Formats: sequence, structure tokens, C-alpha cells
Amino acid sequence: MVAADLPRTRRPAEAVAMTNRIALVTGAASGIGAAIATRLAADGASVALLARRRDRLEKVAAQITETGGTALVVPADVTSEESVAAAATEVHDRFGDLDLLVNNAGLMRVVPFADGPLDDWRRTVDVNLTGVINVTHAFLPALRRSAATRTTDLINVSSIAGERINPGMATYGASKAAVSHLTRTLRAELAGEGIRVTDLEPGMIGGTELADSFPTELQSMVNDLRTTLPAVPVSEVAELVSYVVSRPRNVNLPRLIIQPSKEV
Ligand SMILES: NC(=O)c1ccc[n+]([C@@H]2O[C@H](COP(=O)([O-])OP(=O)(O)OC[C@H]3O[C@@H](n4cnc5c(N)ncnc54)[C@H](OP(=O)(O)O)[C@@H]3O)[C@@H](O)[C@H]2O)c1
Repeated sequence: MVAADLPRTRRPAEAVAMTNRIALVTGAASGIGAAIATRLAADGASVALLARRRDRLEKVAAQITETGGTALVVPADVTSEESVAAAATEVHDRFGDLDLLVNNAGLMRVVPFADGPLDDWRRTVDVNLTGVINVTHAFLPALRRSAATRTTDLINVSSIAGERINPGMATYGASKAAVSHLTRTLRAELAGEGIRVTDLEPGMIGGTELADSFPTELQSMVNDLRTTLPAVPVSEVAELVSYVVSRPRNVNLPRLIIQPSKEV
């Protein structure tokens, strides 16, 4: 075959309709989670929004419903098994079986390990890792039932920090390394059932509250970096998730990195 025989245009893979899909996004009160939830709802999915702050979730839900989307506010703490179990019941009662779970809730502390209060390190692991385990465990029965008949996705938002050696981010990086490992192993365990699993590793993303609890000096360093790189906007992460979940049922993107072009 010569070049002239090749098709001039490649037919894009047919995107799967998002209408009728039932999604839950954790950490949907702000930043990446709010953007993903809003985008999935705009694509046609019914979306449950989970985080601790009810008022912030209600604002995101109002934006979704004002534009004709369907949203359910589910205030919960991912570190609490009981809270997550109650959320699972509420989502099931309102929407039925979930077929799209985005574990996105997380927090970051940036302090040299020796200086950080032990409670901060425990909290980082509790939210970033145990939270993913709690939520995945609670919703897995629904995901399994869904996968028997329809496209089903589990997406865990990890971080490039899970692979990099960043002084000040030992526990955050360790929690994200664990999330990525958990995700890749879950993919191996669940692929046979048709559950698509994606480990999503963002670099520096702008428009989020992740650095809001940092000391002022560190916060302004992060803000400077976000401006000069510039950081990837949350809408691009949402766009990527929208692409991943709308692939034909037999197509899975197991691991994705998204970061600013100038971030190394
Ligand atoms: N921004 C970045 O550059 C970047 C880069 C790589 C990875 N990430 C990851 O992306 C994810 C989202 O972060 P973001 O940047 O969008 O930050 P963010 O704006 O601070 O969002 C974090 C979300 O998690 C929720 N959350 C925190 N603790 C929770 C808990 N115990 N239970 C339930 N929800 C909880 C927060 O809502 P409530 O406070 O209301 O609970 C909030 O909605 C995180 O996993 C983060 O590690 C971010």
C-alpha cells in the first residue's frame, strides 16, 4: 500500500451518548471536581455532587440545573464509612445504579515532613487514599451491576506528585502514589467485568482551592507559578474526563497525565 491509497481523513471514533448515564463526583464543591461535574451534566449525565460543604455543592448544582442539567447534592465526608454509605443509599434511591464514579476529593499540605504535625499527615492519607477506598467500596456493587449491561467507568484523580520527588510533599506524594497503584490494580481486578478504570494524574491546574490553606508566602508562590506557566484550567481536565467516558465501551484509557506545556 502506498501513501496515496490511505484514507485522507480518519473517521473519529464514535462518541457514546452520555444521556442516561449516572455519575458521582467527589470533591465537587470546587476546582476540578466542580468542573468535571458541570461538564458531565452538560454532556447529559445525571450527576451526584459529593463534598462536605452543602452550600458550595448547592451553588454548583444550581449552575447545572439552570442550564437544564440534572444534579443531586450529597453532602458527605469521604473519610467516614457511615457518611459515604448514607450517600450511596441516597444516590441509589434518587438515580438508581451508578455507572460513572470520579474519585476526586483531596487535600494537599506542603511542609517538610519533620515540620508537619502528625495529624496533618494522617489527614492527608485519610482523605486522599482512605477516602478513595471508602467511596469505591461503597459504590462498587452498583458499578458492577451497571457494567453487566452498560458502559461503566471508575476514574481516580491522582497526581504527577505520586511519581515525583518533591520536598515538602512526602505524604501528599505518597498518598497519590498509593492512589495510582490502587487504581491500576483495580483495573486489573475489574477489567474482566467491563468496568473501565482510569488513573488521572494532573500536573499544575489553575482555578482550584487546593493551595488556599497554604501559608501566605507559599500561596503567593503557587499563584505566581500558576500565572507564569500558565497552569492548565480546570475546564481542560473536565474536557479530558468527558472524552475518556464517552469512548466506545471497548475503549479504555487506563492512565492519563495532563499538565501545562511548560511544566517539567
Ligand atoms: N490543583 C492541582 O494543581 C492538582 C494537581 C494534581 C492533582 N490534583 C488533585 O485534584 C483533586 C481536586 O483538587 P482541586 O485542585 O480541585 O482542589 P480543591 O478545589 O481544594 O478541591 C478539593 C475538593 O475536595 C473536597 N473535599 C476535601 N476533603 C473532603 C472530605 N473529607 N470529604 C469530601 N470531600 C472533601 C472539597 O470540598 P469540601 O471542603 O466541601 O469537602 C473540594 O470540593 C485532588 O485530589 C487533588 O489532589 C490537583
